[in-house]
Amino acid sequence: MERAAALVHDLAARGGPRLPALEWHDELGSTSDRLKDLARGGAPAWTVVVGERQTGGRGREGRTWQSPKGGLYLSVLLRPESERVSLIPLAAGVALAEAVLEFGVRAELKWPNDVLVSGRKLAGILAEASSSGSGVDWVVLGIGVNVAVELDALPDALRQSATSLAACGARDAQPSAVAAAALARLSVWYDALRTEPARVVAAWRAQAVPWWGALVEVRTAGGERRGRLTAIDEEGALWLETPAGARIRLVSGEVSRVRAIEP
Ligand code: BTN
Repeated sequence: MERAAALVHDLAARGGPRLPALEWHDELGSTSDRLKDLARGGAPAWTVVVGERQTGGRGREGRTWQSPKGGLYLSVLLRPESERVSLIPLAAGVALAEAVLEFGVRAELKWPNDVLVSGRKLAGILAEASSSGSGVDWVVLGIGVNVAVELDALPDALRQSATSLAACGARDAQPSAVAAAALARLSVWYDALRTEPARVVAAWRAQAVPWWGALVEVRTAGGERRGRLTAIDEEGALWLETPAGARIRLVSGEVSRVRAIEP
């Protein structure tokens, strides 16, 4: 079956959302850039763009997302109404962790939504929003999953820190099947953002790396913050307590664990 048709078929079999439009590209710059153009042109919610390779894949914090063949590169358009927008990245992380579990891979979430297996990155999510006077017009959610990416072909720094579904022993993982699982789980957790947002935070917490109480460093646009990780709140923000006892609330950044230096 043709790959786009396989995705639509799998999605229907799972009772997932109906996609009003689906573009499947052999290669493109970035699925999120393409979908943003469609969003600006008025495309409806749940329009999806998939690429088999990206030449300009983008990650969080302005990074590049290596996008060779063998990965899933997908962007989906959301048009939130009463959904709590700040929790969309967390809901997407929960959805993706559940999706990969369907292929036999148990992952953990690192705030806000890195999907890790044994500390190595399996998948990432980039949520980009556009707002106007009336609120958030659209969110383009970009999902990258290392399905069967050749890890040896990745740049040195990434080879040490990345993993793939294939390397984790996933069963029957085709990008279209992973896409269907991710979209089906996303529609469930996206609905929960309207009806029970607290459940999204609880589900995220249940799958988070167990760093509560540990010393972490968060790189933010405004500099580095260090402290013990104390909580995630109902808006999806992270709370740290600094060595001086101050409590800090963070809404974005890159978290890493700080190992205590042995005396
Ligand atoms: C991260 O840095 O962890 C987020 C990575 C998001 C990558 C995906 S791949 C599909 C979509 N298109 C992009 O250019 N980026 C996102």
